[in-house]
Amino acid sequence: MCGIVGYISKGNDERSVNIGIEALKRLEYRGYDSAGLAFWDRSGGIICQKAVGRISNLENKIGQNGFSPADPVILHTRWATHGNVCEANAHPHSDCTRDIFVAHNGIIENYPALKEQLIGEGHVFSSGTDTEVIAHLIEKCFEGNLEEAVRKSLGCLVGTYGLAVISGRDPNKIVAARLSSPLLVGLAEDYFLLASDPSAVIAHTRKVVYLDDGEIAVIGRSNFTIIREKKAEEIEWADGQHEKEGFPHYMLKEVMEQPESIEQTLKGRLIPEAGNAKLGGLDSVEQRLRQIDKVYIVGCGTARHAGLLGEYMFEEYAGISTRTDAASEFRYRKTLLDKNTALLAISQSGETADTLAAIRDARSRGALTMGITNVVGSTQARETDAGVYTRCGPEIGVASTKAFTSQVAALALFTLFLGRQRQMPLETGRRIVRELLRMPEMVEQTLQCDRQIKELAEKYRGFENFFYLGRKYNYPIAREGALKIKEIAYVHSEGSWGGELKHGELALISEDFPSICIVPKDSVYEKMVSNIEEIKARGGPVIAVTSEGNQEIESLADDVVYIPDTIEFLTPILSVIPLQLFAYHFAVLCGCDIDKPRNLAKSVTVE
Ligand code: F6R
Repeated sequence: MCGIVGYISKGNDERSVNIGIEALKRLEYRGYDSAGLAFWDRSGGIICQKAVGRISNLENKIGQNGFSPADPVILHTRWATHGNVCEANAHPHSDCTRDIFVAHNGIIENYPALKEQLIGEGHVFSSGTDTEVIAHLIEKCFEGNLEEAVRKSLGCLVGTYGLAVISGRDPNKIVAARLSSPLLVGLAEDYFLLASDPSAVIAHTRKVVYLDDGEIAVIGRSNFTIIREKKAEEIEWADGQHEKEGFPHYMLKEVMEQPESIEQTLKGRLIPEAGNAKLGGLDSVEQRLRQIDKVYIVGCGTARHAGLLGEYMFEEYAGISTRTDAASEFRYRKTLLDKNTALLAISQSGETADTLAAIRDARSRGALTMGITNVVGSTQARETDAGVYTRCGPEIGVASTKAFTSQVAALALFTLFLGRQRQMPLETGRRIVRELLRMPEMVEQTLQCDRQIKELAEKYRGFENFFYLGRKYNYPIAREGALKIKEIAYVHSEGSWGGELKHGELALISEDFPSICIVPKDSVYEKMVSNIEEIKARGGPVIAVTSEGNQEIESLADDVVYIPDTIEFLTPILSVIPLQLFAYHFAVLCGCDIDKPRNLAKSVTVE
């Protein structure tokens, strides 16, 4: 979704626009439909340029105009919410005098009333966005000092924002403000970089200050002030993780990285002798967790699928009643929360608006809030009482892959921790630890199916519908497999329980409607085999994903993919891999834009 970058240096830097554009490109993965920037030009005023489509279109436009850029500069990628995709609606937006420029992430909910009032006072609007009201409000409040004008304007806004503002009337600063939309300031040697996402600053500095809700930062040429004094933190990700490193797409790179990313999630967190997990992020709530008798897991999309697995895990191994909800639904239903309830939010980015809203709702009703997230310092990490980082490194591909398997690995750690606090026998804990320690190696082995999967994608190319079926621990994997092919190959797919087939969905089965059946040798194996029989009896092609050595399935399925054998509740980490690869190769054959699928954004920061 939308991204913000700002740059200001000690002395008017002619590299300002180039540095800003390079940082903005690092946010491309989030998804956007237009881009723009506003910069101080040596000719003595602010220049604003915008372009629909890729950032390269904006670059071309700037290149053709012979500007003399200096700084400050603010830049933005827009993912349309209010107003269609066009140059006029791209950010930055300006006031009537075209002297105040605003880049904004978030939504201003009361903008219609504000706009009407400002128009009544004589302001002239040139876009259909909610953001433009902010520029006009700042114009109205300006009395010589930009931060004061921003502060007064914020008092009129209802909604969410991450803001970057510059003005030709007070040109030696960027003013930034945050409410429910992330912003951080990167502290480099001779300059500051403002950004909505650490990816934008990582090539310049590891020292960052995250803004908290309600804070305004005034970023000058050699110092910056913020309402509350804050300690600089270190970003843990290595810069190289933002590159494709020879892979044609980030998605494939991230699928292939899974042995290492899962290893990182588990590293230092397993205690083999005690059959337990050591999770520093839960230390502060360890006693309270003993009283918890109900867990709600919330997340969106892929993160929700991980949550569905957590539901099976917590109930079976920790004996805690658990329900998983789409975060977007959670606070609109009558959930029964009290102090013995925990909400566990799962999110790769830690910035998904629906998930954050669920956390806030649960906290306001007295529940313990916990999180599993990847991004250190994200809003989710800061707003939950306790949590676990997945530590799988930046995920750039819009289709979530390695974040998912790390979320499932983190859930397995949670399960051990909660289970051993309760009824889980020592031997069961030890067995789970042993299997988790083997997991990176088993993932590596599973990835060897890549060539076979590519051939299968070629064989099934041209089919326009797919079923994904699984039971128990592999039902969420059926959902995840269906989502992956849907989002990157734009193919119709349904993910369902094998057992539900005969209650209606079987009507769709024909020789044109293949089914991908996840059928490891687990406690529901025989049941899944019956479901495959039902499909074959109606002429439907079947690709089976099963445990190594289980050759009997070959007489039933048209194609068989083998995964290593492990304990039932950990099979999903392996069984999802062929499905990720199938979606990937199928989408490549369809000529799709793998890392930036249409209509999607990496981090969904609006509700
Ligand atoms: C699917 C996908 C999305 C995200 C969802 C939640 O491949 O990427 O479904 O999983 O938007 O995002 P996070 O995990 O950042 O909260």
